[in-house]
Amino acid sequence: AQVSQAEFVKSSVTTEDCPSDGLPEFALVGRSNVGKSSLVNSIVRRKKLALTSKKPGKTQCINHFRINDSWFLVDLPGYGFANAPHEVRTDWSKFTKDYFLNRSTLVSVFLLIDASIPAKKIDLEYASWLGQNQIPMTLIFTKCDKRKKKRHGGKRAEENVEDFQDLIREYFQSAPPWIMTSSVTNQGRD
Ligand code: GTP
Ligand code: MG
Repeated sequence: AQVSQAEFVKSSVTTEDCPSDGLPEFALVGRSNVGKSSLVNSIVRRKKLALTSKKPGKTQCINHFRINDSWFLVDLPGYGFANAPHEVRTDWSKFTKDYFLNRSTLVSVFLLIDASIPAKKIDLEYASWLGQNQIPMTLIFTKCDKRKKKRHGGKRAEENVEDFQDLIREYFQSAPPWIMTSSVTNQGRD
């Protein structure tokens, strides 16, 4: 379905603060800088609805965007942000985890994985945590447009994705559904 209407509704710092109109919602989660906010903009075909940044740690709240007046797309703070003070980091993961466990209108989670770099343990652990808590998820591989870089293992996006799939099978009986995307070329947007 086409996105015909998209509007920012609210930033919340706790699950209780989130909008209470009962619309179904889909949340984007993933490491800081993986491209969550950029993907929101790609999906809604707007350049700056969600704020993005080269520096990790841009999104610090639970941000609700209402789409077609019928569902929410939710932009969350990233995890694994190395430059934040440890206390802040713990706090973020605590409040996003509380959101996942207690947000009754949450339909599914999009777990974003950077396809331009080799698989990271923290992403596998996060996927595993969502799985253990029976939270439905789709893996969204981001930055598939990026050219391979030697310092990042020298593999193409497709190869990094294959490696990630192999590793995730150690955590899941069957690998979650997955989509390859790019917010630059809009690959995977539909
Ligand atoms: P936090 O809010 O800090 O958790 O980050 P985020 O996951 O929301 O990432 P954001 O969308 O702000 O993007 C981080 C950086 O990656 C920005 O410089 C984006 O331009 C870049 N980026 C995001 N998506 C893509 C993509 O598909 N391809 C390329 N080449 N760059 C991307
Ligand atoms: Mg963001």
